[in-house]
Amino acid sequence: MALILGIESSCDETAVAVIDGSASTLDARIVAQHIASQDAAHRPYGGVVPEIAARAHAEVIAPMVAETLADAGLTLAGIDAIAATAGPGLIGGVMVGLVTGKALAMASGKPLLAINHLEGHALSPRLADPDLAYPYLLLLVSGGHCQILEVRGLGDYRRLATTIDDALGEAFDKTAKVLGLGYPGGPAVERLARAGNPQAVPLPRPLAGTAEPHFSFAGLKSAVLRAHESGKYAQADLAASFQQAAIDCVVDRTARALASLEGSAPPPTALVVAGGVAANAALRGALEQVAARAGLALVAPPVKLCTDNAAMIGWAGAERFAAGFRDGLDVAARPRWPLDANAAPARGAGVKA
Ligand code: KG4
Ligand code: ZN
Repeated sequence: MALILGIESSCDETAVAVIDGSASTLDARIVAQHIASQDAAHRPYGGVVPEIAARAHAEVIAPMVAETLADAGLTLAGIDAIAATAGPGLIGGVMVGLVTGKALAMASGKPLLAINHLEGHALSPRLADPDLAYPYLLLLVSGGHCQILEVRGLGDYRRLATTIDDALGEAFDKTAKVLGLGYPGGPAVERLARAGNPQAVPLPRPLAGTAEPHFSFAGLKSAVLRAHESGKYAQADLAASFQQAAIDCVVDRTARALASLEGSAPPPTALVVAGGVAANAALRGALEQVAARAGLALVAPPVKLCTDNAAMIGWAGAERFAAGFRDGLDVAARPRWPLDANAAPARGAGVKA
């Protein structure tokens, strides 16, 4: 038995989970979990307000730890290690969760594991699918990140592509704002797109077909704004055409990354998609075809494990605990923390971690 308490507070979700690292099914691995969304608090501002987020985390996190332990039928004495997100993310929120984790570790004498939030997303498919083996090609698409990584092993990540401007989820959120669909926008855009014609609005596919491996969504977002302001197009057609253009970009970039791994040894065992935008059914459908063309299966965790949660942090903690990693109580909270520290910076301003 390796029971890990996972804590996540890097953006607008406060989450706590107890993970059993030695169990062999998803249901048995997640012993208990709680998640509190701050969507309602941020909705009036059309995006996450860091100060509001940090305060909200501080209010709910301690009672949430108590509730999650109670649900698991445990006290701290029964936990083997405490895993808390230490970055990257909104620093006020990260500090709330990390300091909570440190205090619990200090009080209980149990080891602390400082988890990279992106590693949580990157390993979440292994939590969901016990058969998923390293190495795999990971498309990580969330509100803050848009990357393609070769996941070679625990702590061994090679970044093949990143965005030179906006993340994919950010593009969905900004499109939703233009269309007046509210926050968070991804699910609303996807819903409206079902009623629209994806070919109705001519939109660009930035960087598609180029030799450069990276993503860009800023030009697409501006084109949606201009098309909307022209008054020529129905809302549903704008949503559907935006979603199609964004998916075309992702498909092109992912196929390029898969092609770049041809002949690599060992070859990837699967194409994996994770992060909040992996909840998008149209994107999943398109990626299934990309994977099939490369002779691979697409692995996508259940939607609840794609958006931010503490189960994925606890799971990354379980893998690290089993591998013998431990962090000191003086470990720093990090607003930026790239998974691949050796990746060359992508061109352009506003480069994301
Ligand atoms: O992983 P996540 O919960 O938080 C971050 O770490 O960023 O991702 C949230 C992002 C938001 O931008 C949200 O609009 C997007 O994921 N998202 C979606 C869908 N569900 C969530 N985007 C497109 N289609 C969806 N169904
Ligand atoms: Zn995330």
